[in-house]
Amino acid sequence: MPWYTEEQIEQVRSANSIVDVIGSYVRLKRTGGGYMGLCPFHNEKSPSFHVNPSRQMYKCFGCGVGGSVITFVMEYENYSFTEAIEALAQRAGIDLPKQDMTEEQKRQDGLRKTLIEINMKAASYYYAKLKSPQGKPGYDYLSSRGLTDDTIKHFGLGYAGQGGGELYRYLRHEGYSDSILKETGLFKMEERGVYDKFWNRVIFPIMDVNNRVIGFGGRVMGDAKPKYLNSPETKLFDKSRNLFGLNYAKLGKKDSFILCEGYMDVIALHQAGFTNAVASLGTAFTGQQANIIRRYTENVFLTYDSDEAGVKAALRAIPLMRQVGINAKIIHMEPYKDPDEFIKALGTEEFQKRIDEAENSFFFEIDVIKRSFDMNDPEQKTKFYHAMAKKLLTFEDKVQRENYIEALAAKYSIRKDDLRSLVIRYGTELPERYEQDFENSDTNVRKKKSFSEEGIEYSYRLLLSWIVERTELFEKVSSIVKADDFFGEPYSEAAKLLYQQLDSGELVPAKIINNFPDAQQQNIVAGMFQTSFKTELDIEEQEKALNELVFKIKEYSIERRTRELKDMNELKKIIEEKKTLQNFSKMHISLQDG
Ligand code: UTP
Ligand code: MN
Repeated sequence: MPWYTEEQIEQVRSANSIVDVIGSYVRLKRTGGGYMGLCPFHNEKSPSFHVNPSRQMYKCFGCGVGGSVITFVMEYENYSFTEAIEALAQRAGIDLPKQDMTEEQKRQDGLRKTLIEINMKAASYYYAKLKSPQGKPGYDYLSSRGLTDDTIKHFGLGYAGQGGGELYRYLRHEGYSDSILKETGLFKMEERGVYDKFWNRVIFPIMDVNNRVIGFGGRVMGDAKPKYLNSPETKLFDKSRNLFGLNYAKLGKKDSFILCEGYMDVIALHQAGFTNAVASLGTAFTGQQANIIRRYTENVFLTYDSDEAGVKAALRAIPLMRQVGINAKIIHMEPYKDPDEFIKALGTEEFQKRIDEAENSFFFEIDVIKRSFDMNDPEQKTKFYHAMAKKLLTFEDKVQRENYIEALAAKYSIRKDDLRSLVIRYGTELPERYEQDFENSDTNVRKKKSFSEEGIEYSYRLLLSWIVERTELFEKVSSIVKADDFFGEPYSEAAKLLYQQLDSGELVPAKIINNFPDAQQQNIVAGMFQTSFKTELDIEEQEKALNELVFKIKEYSIERRTRELKDMNELKKIIEEKKTLQNFSKMHISLQDG
């Protein structure tokens, strides 16, 4: 957590009007209940960025970011939580006592700057080496892979030669101490001596979005293992929050990114003119990376390797992108393994064709599901249709779901109405039904879950938004759904805090956000209180939807706690709750009598 107390943070937050602060960065226009403007976090032509003065929160309905005034400053200025607090304190003329942070924080701050400086020097060292006579093996290797001098320079590629302690000695000579060099992840410090981590490899410097070198990847020039060696995570290098190539991709004019697996793919694509290519950093693609991409574009072409591991990686990445509103498509590269090999063999134009023919990611997912069923066996075929229906529940938007039902019905020859009723059946299942299903279920057909985790999180957001909007509903809702019926971070924590506020009659959602120092989580928490319910529903439909929501969340909680059951007392409690839920009338909570 930050260096300041809860009271200090809340004092700073409440002293800075969100409209004033955001208004100094973004042109805001008054509308009904608040203000609107063009979102500064993604490209847009018509405004979907809302600022709500009574809640002291903002939210972009285009890209999904949102939070308190603190979140805004963090995201806009790229500040840490503490830095944002300090900037806002200064703005409001609040004197924050400095004493307990100075030493440690100054040290951390200085450390970061020094690490950047060292990485820069290391990158130049490797580059110079590549260009020197000793660097010939590296240079020849890169040339043999088709990279031009311009490309090598553009990406600052280098060569780590004999190793031993070459780089170490150079940096010591430049005046850096062992203790700081240790933090770079570039050396192995052993009792017998210090060794360079990278030797006899070509070097790929990894830059952050602002062109600062934060780490390195190194490739062997033959078939030795490991093929690539990467810097460990350091104070600078957070693999889950950076993308290789983003510093260049963000400058592009194309309205899409190409997401690939490897450094070489990114480099080959950029060289071929596809300067919108990025890659994750030798680790699985993360939700944070999806969020970062969403700031620049909502269209992503996936070019994962065409082997089994590549399919798996794609299947993991697609939902993460869908969740932040990215429309992903799959580029098929058969018979080649990756974009680098493809372009080398068939060239740029053919690759562009594959982009144009890219497959809708939902179709791709369904196709992969289909592979585990024998479509000539009627039983298996039925199971496939059921699996497809469940997958269709991913879409929360009814129109979108309907469009997919139509397309898939045609594609897999099932009647549209039949597929729709299967979907509805899975969407409104009752607990008894689950139990039955459990027994008959085939372990083949994914792990049984009433609805996806994604779906439940959306339900959490909706319900929490409801009770923030209409506090009079809280009493009834909380008689069924308790704070501990919310699972997963940051939901459970945020729900607990919100319930505490409502119990004590003091509702300040923006204050809840103070508890999450991470901007990513602040976005989610802000979204929890500002998810809008379909307003075109009439009051009875809204009532029905609300009751279903309460039912769903409770049901999921019961199911989940049963699954994770630890002791018998807990079981008793669950059984009782289950009974109550079975008697739960779908009209339990009425909107009309308040
Ligand atoms: P690939 O094995 O697909 O390599 O790894 P590649 O990109 O085709 O590389 P070339 O063309 O053989 O040079 C994809 C990415 O996975 C990470 C690296 O980031 C690599 O770019 N990786 C791979 C590692 O971190 N370590 C490894 O040993 C292998
Ligand atoms: Mn490759």
